[in-house]
Amino acid sequence: MPGDASGVIPLDISAIRADFPILERTVRDGKPLVYLDSGATSQRPVPVIDAEQEYLTTHHAAVHRGAHQLAEEATDAYEGARARIAGFVGAARPEELVFVKNATEAINLIAYSFGNASIGPDVPGAATRFALGPGDEIVITEMEHHANLVPWQELARRTGATLKWFGLTDDFRLDLSSIDEIITPRTKVVAFTHQSNVLGTVNPVQRLVEAAHRVGALTVLDACQSVPHGPVDVQQLGVDLLAFSGHKMFGPSGVGGLYGRYDLLSAMPPFLTGGSMIEQVFMDHSTYAAPPARFEAGVPMTSQAVGLGAAVDYLETVGMQQVAAHEAELTGLALQQLSALPGIRIIGPSDTVDRGGAVSFVVDGVHAHDVGQILDDNGVAVRVGHHCAWPLHRRYGIAATVRASFALYNTAEEVGALVEAVRDAQRFFSV
Ligand SMILES: Cc1ncc(COP(=O)(O)O)c(C=O)c1O
Repeated sequence: MPGDASGVIPLDISAIRADFPILERTVRDGKPLVYLDSGATSQRPVPVIDAEQEYLTTHHAAVHRGAHQLAEEATDAYEGARARIAGFVGAARPEELVFVKNATEAINLIAYSFGNASIGPDVPGAATRFALGPGDEIVITEMEHHANLVPWQELARRTGATLKWFGLTDDFRLDLSSIDEIITPRTKVVAFTHQSNVLGTVNPVQRLVEAAHRVGALTVLDACQSVPHGPVDVQQLGVDLLAFSGHKMFGPSGVGGLYGRYDLLSAMPPFLTGGSMIEQVFMDHSTYAAPPARFEAGVPMTSQAVGLGAAVDYLETVGMQQVAAHEAELTGLALQQLSALPGIRIIGPSDTVDRGGAVSFVVDGVHAHDVGQILDDNGVAVRVGHHCAWPLHRRYGIAATVRASFALYNTAEEVGALVEAVRDAQRFFSV
């Protein structure tokens, strides 16, 4: 396996699977569950469930408020989780990690903050760094999840800035042939995904960051599909802002992370306002707290943050290199076995180079929803549809794809079950 070649020790998958009790259950009249939908949301290991339960049964209170012991313990648990999660993505200090509900909220937070900088200088220096207006440009890509597309469309509409994007090549990569025409001195923001949730394509982050920084633009990386699957280090990547979701990395739902370089977060205007995010409040105006508090208005999601801290501990114990090697092996097998079937088209790169484990495909002659139904009858859970990436599907002239997405708990046998279930669908529909 790739892990052996690189000296990475293969994972003890049965021990890992024992940490995820849900994987033991059966579905659809006794079929063993084959969960291949971790790109949508992952399952949670016992240590994450336990950490949330332990917090709730022994320490829970509103953080950063009460003058009592429980409040102190809750605050310590919350801030401890922040420090560990910030370290996990390579942040220079805990204050560079803002807790958000999910990646969608993180990206909206950035877009609204830039929008607020565009209409009034709330925070000194914000207008010059973040304000956009007519003549300014926001650059995205045609492979974005709607979460990293619609907020930028809206920001462009509100400020009069222009939205531009990189198109895609026929071999499922970003078309960077006109990079200097797309990223120009007018560009203020370049927002793009690390790994496409449909194609599996891993984008050349450093090349895009260099092009953006050369013209003084900020970079926003949607790391939803990368942080759970391999090492991600914000300082090494050089990105300015980065978004990810807890529920895709074995953590709870309702929590995610926004990383931002401290100098940027300190100059960005707030998005949501109210309690906890203030420094001083008068009847007619307020001043704002330093980050991350500035971006965490109201009582935050506390047990979820604690659970996400435990998820990060879990991933670190396994080792992100090991996770990446294991998933690369499964992805390679899936690509090889699916493309060997007649009538299957992989919508994404056909080998594992610069590619993650989202494997989308179409079965000629059968609608993706029908394939999904037969797979489900076989106990194989996948996602079907446009996966919140409608423009990408339009680009390749397809209405919908079937997507199998892997996580560290999947096995080669499960890849086999997927392939067998796809053959069953082909037999059922006589294609
Ligand atoms: C690449 C990418 N970006 C953003 C999101 C949105 O994540 P969430 O719904 O957790 O905010 C997803 C979820 O599928 C995704 O795959």
